Amino acid sequence: MDEELFPSTPGKIKSDRRTFHRCFASTSTMFLWALFLIALTASYLSFIATGNHHIHHTSHRSVTGPHWEKRVVSSSQIHRKNGFSVLVTGAAGFVGTHVSLALKKRGDGVVGIDNFNDYYDPALKKARRKMLESKNIFIINADINDQNVLAKLFEIVAFTHVMHLAAQAGVRYAMENPKSYVHSNIAGLVTLLEQCKSADPQPAVVWASSSSVYGLNDKVPFSESDRTDQPASLYAATKKAGEEITHTYNHIYGLSITGLRFFTVYGPWGRPDMAYFSFTKNILKGKPITVYRGKNGVDLARDFTYIDDIVKGCVGSLDTAGKSTGSGGKKKGPAPYRIFNLGNTSPVTVPTLVSILEKNLKMKAKKNVVDMPGNGDVPFTHANISLAQRELGYKPTTDLPTGLRKFVKWYLWYYGYEQGKVKSVKS
Ligand SMILES: NC(=O)c1ccc[n+]([C@@H]2O[C@H](COP(=O)([O-])OP(=O)(O)OC[C@H]3O[C@@H](n4cnc5c(N)ncnc54)[C@H](O)[C@@H]3O)[C@@H](O)[C@H]2O)c1
Repeated sequence: MDEELFPSTPGKIKSDRRTFHRCFASTSTMFLWALFLIALTASYLSFIATGNHHIHHTSHRSVTGPHWEKRVVSSSQIHRKNGFSVLVTGAAGFVGTHVSLALKKRGDGVVGIDNFNDYYDPALKKARRKMLESKNIFIINADINDQNVLAKLFEIVAFTHVMHLAAQAGVRYAMENPKSYVHSNIAGLVTLLEQCKSADPQPAVVWASSSSVYGLNDKVPFSESDRTDQPASLYAATKKAGEEITHTYNHIYGLSITGLRFFTVYGPWGRPDMAYFSFTKNILKGKPITVYRGKNGVDLARDFTYIDDIVKGCVGSLDTAGKSTGSGGKKKGPAPYRIFNLGNTSPVTVPTLVSILEKNLKMKAKKNVVDMPGNGDVPFTHANISLAQRELGYKPTTDLPTGLRKFVKWYLWYYGYEQGKVKSVKS
């Protein structure tokens, strides 16, 4: 792992006491040292804020103040008996938006946090934010690595739950920008868990892992007890690491943890980097689409799961999450640690996905079928959801044709095809 990511250890500075005294012998040398240390700290903090050179965040300054606090308090108000106050990370993202709306609708308090990075078109994230703001859900524009903002938030609100969905998603992009995965999925996760463990009361944490942890596993359908030690991408490796990291916080600090392995989530307000979304865009523009084919010409297949079903699984996880047992960083007893698959249990091949889209769009796709390159994709996914069914009452009800019909309807509306005016879609 890149050494730049980490600050030098205090142990190294302390190690040679004689050198230390010699260096600080005169006031002017001490002044120069102080300047040097300030510069070093500033450059480290700026690295933490950006995390990488490819992705840009819309704001690095987290504005707090009386007005900000008022919005946080108002957004976190609970409007039902025994309701929750939930911090949703990645609230301007695809899943985060839908989960936030569902929680708010039933009377829970919701505060969002998102850094609005430009991994995909931030205009879509801002449009989602507008929708959430109309329901009095406030999304703080900050990075989950910003521990000051997190501390301030927990000072203002006694969150009962954290729904952690912020992450660097996407399998192939990990080859282009690996550091962004370490920044959000590892460093960001640890910063968030550090805050949760110190909080008093500690919240219960529900977070998004991924079906990608099954990697090269070829036993189908994938069950939670199957091996997950053969990731096929850095994205998968960071999600697997997340499962281990959350386990340690459960073990040492008594945090209640639920990890959810989502299987290819799709639907309205979805993610432009995903195949169903970019296929739709290209078919409408008359551009060719690239359809990958597995070994020996076998079609790739995915257990596509509709967003409303995923939301039900997330809400069911929050409802059944046992309490964290620690407080202020001290464990007082064992707390639950759970992992669930949230899939649809009926994999569909990519060519079938394309034909459903063609039907809905009333247009033919220009297909460019090529062998799958070794870029992190796996040939198929298929979830066994019996555990989630038993423990969460999870029961997906939307099949791919129904879900894609709803997605296409949203897409045509959002990008202005219905009015004949087409908003630009970032390629
Ligand atoms: N959509 C899927 O098919 C799928 C499948 C498996 C797992 N997941 C996981 O589910 C979660 C939600 O996915 P999604 O599809 O909504 O993705 P998304 O990219 O739409 O949402 C993630 C949001 O997190 C924000 N974010 C990223 N890094 C951040 C940081 N360091 N600080 C603050 N905000 C940050 C992004 O700006 C984005 O709005 C992610 O953890 C993802 O890995 C998604």
